[in-house]
Amino acid sequence: MIRVKKIAHATYEIPDVDKQVEYYTEVLGLTVTGKEKDAVYLASTVDHHSVVVRKGAQAQCTRVGFQIGPEDDLNAFEKQVQGHGIKTQRKKDPEPSISDLLTFEDPKGTVMEVFKREAFAGQRFPNKGIVPYKLGHVAFHVTDVKHVTKFYCDVLGFRESDWMADFFSFLRCGPDHHTINLMQTGSNRHFHTAFELRDWAHLQTACDYLSLNGYKLLWGPGRHGIGHNLFAYHRSPAGLITETFAELDRMNEELGYFEPRPWHRDNPQRPKVWAKDPSASNLWGIMPTDEMHK
Ligand SMILES: [Fe+2]
Repeated sequence: MIRVKKIAHATYEIPDVDKQVEYYTEVLGLTVTGKEKDAVYLASTVDHHSVVVRKGAQAQCTRVGFQIGPEDDLNAFEKQVQGHGIKTQRKKDPEPSISDLLTFEDPKGTVMEVFKREAFAGQRFPNKGIVPYKLGHVAFHVTDVKHVTKFYCDVLGFRESDWMADFFSFLRCGPDHHTINLMQTGSNRHFHTAFELRDWAHLQTACDYLSLNGYKLLWGPGRHGIGHNLFAYHRSPAGLITETFAELDRMNEELGYFEPRPWHRDNPQRPKVWAKDPSASNLWGIMPTDEMHK
């Protein structure tokens, strides 16, 4: 089976595009790499874009992009998707830096964009704003977590890293503990989008910078049990939740366990089902506010 190797970008529909783009550039520290009539492209790394903002009636995440490997065959990947009875589309030059794009919908209606990265943008890291390393993961509320989890594993080649009881799955497509996570709550919608920072010091700088710019934390800083990442959540102007994180568990795929860390309780730390316990959410103790679930 051909597996996607990396989360590349996420596309959002936003009522006030200018305000959200200002937040992404001035506060998060992403770079505008392209503007079209109805889309703004923003990047954090070698990719041309990590975030795409389009005008829409309500704030939502509509698309998620994934890269396959340089040796992988997109035609063969398309056949693999169609083998599951899923309708696919193919587009030539649909977005800057992407010459050949395969799209199809996941079970909740989010469009999957799968492609091969052939050209690197290579913009510099800016010197103002938080400036994350990269887009880390996108989390969704879902109505049927088992069904959607199975789709990501069977169709896109994700692996299960951890579960919280039977309602919250954490899925990886590379060494990072999770790039997609799915929480069953009774609706299908965006939960949060997470950007990776360097370390604890960077997270502190980020929290101060957010505060100086009028953004209060919804939850954190803390350390998750599942994934063991340091985290702090805030709400972007459009209402979508952003997580900044560092020190996420990294999988050694050949050995089947996560790189050992002093804060692990299991040695080695392997993928497992965690009990629905406060420690799974935050090893440091403070539970999320109701705001996190709005
Ligand atoms: Fe997260």
